[in-house]
Amino acid sequence: MFNNIRKNRYPNIGENQVTDQALYEKRRHFIKTGLQAGLGISLSSYLPILAMASAQGLSERIGSAKNTRHLEPNDELNTEEQITHYNNFYELGTGKEDPYRNADALITDPWSVSIEGECENPGEYAIEDILKPHDLEERIYRLRCVEAWSMVVPWIGFPLTELVKHFKPTSKAKYIAFETIYDKESPLPGQNRRSIEWPYREGLRMDEALNPLSFMAVGLYGKVMPNQNGAPLRLVVPWKYGFKSIKSIVKIRFQEDQPPTSWNMTNAREYGFYSNVNPEVSHPRWSQAKERRVGELFKRDTLMFNGYADEVASMYSGMDLGQNY
Ligand code: MTE
Repeated sequence: MFNNIRKNRYPNIGENQVTDQALYEKRRHFIKTGLQAGLGISLSSYLPILAMASAQGLSERIGSAKNTRHLEPNDELNTEEQITHYNNFYELGTGKEDPYRNADALITDPWSVSIEGECENPGEYAIEDILKPHDLEERIYRLRCVEAWSMVVPWIGFPLTELVKHFKPTSKAKYIAFETIYDKESPLPGQNRRSIEWPYREGLRMDEALNPLSFMAVGLYGKVMPNQNGAPLRLVVPWKYGFKSIKSIVKIRFQEDQPPTSWNMTNAREYGFYSNVNPEVSHPRWSQAKERRVGELFKRDTLMFNGYADEVASMYSGMDLGQNY
């Protein structure tokens, strides 16, 4: 995998289908300054977002999510079109536009998530019940793919640590494992090929799962998560290579042992369990020192832990970072 990076192949789609990033920023500014003028109070941390889809249920909650993590100085938001048309989601095909083209093959309603293993509240939960206890927030994170491209995405969701606490892992739970949808009888288009061993699997050490940065996303750009980005529920771990951020989760398992993970099972020499973004450790087939921010002409330097070192480096003190692959 990950060796055919193609450039500038985003199809044009209509303004009514996507919110472009300038328009999105303008709306946020308009709402913020309008409210400030009207109410005369400081609302710097309150950035409601207009939901353009149905005004009900999840989209309503998503639409009123507050921004808790702003854009950082050297970043610009990628456009909604870029974020939703240039994807890796092998279940929907290996080409960058395949997930967008095949998005309808993923049926997300009804959806349930099986909670298993070392916890006090295992069971099969409807997605609505998984989401109900949690306040939704917007967080702008960089996403750095192991293929050496990156994006800046305004995710909507809730901290993974809240989900973990809700199901009460036992003291034996040292790891958390995730799985993506896979129905052998009716596979998704990309699952007809054994590009990896299905289902897609990922995992984190429990302290990584409890790190405040780890996020369960249910939307982006103020809207319900598009299928191609991992609807209805995906993980976002911004200091790790993008393949750790597993999409369309149907199973979460608390366990004592380190879980097998898909790309590591496919090629252990190239894809490690930790896979923390590290510009100093080359992938066996390419350097990780620089990255192409989708939409930009020139490459940028890749940052240690994707720029989140202050918040995560202490979890790996004493570990040989050279072994992160
Ligand atoms: N999750 C599943 N189930 N299947 C996948 O193929 N690809 C991963 C990750 N999660 C993948 C997945 C990779 S390689 C990346 S870089 C990110 O999703 C891409 O997320 P995006 O398409 O929303 O940018």
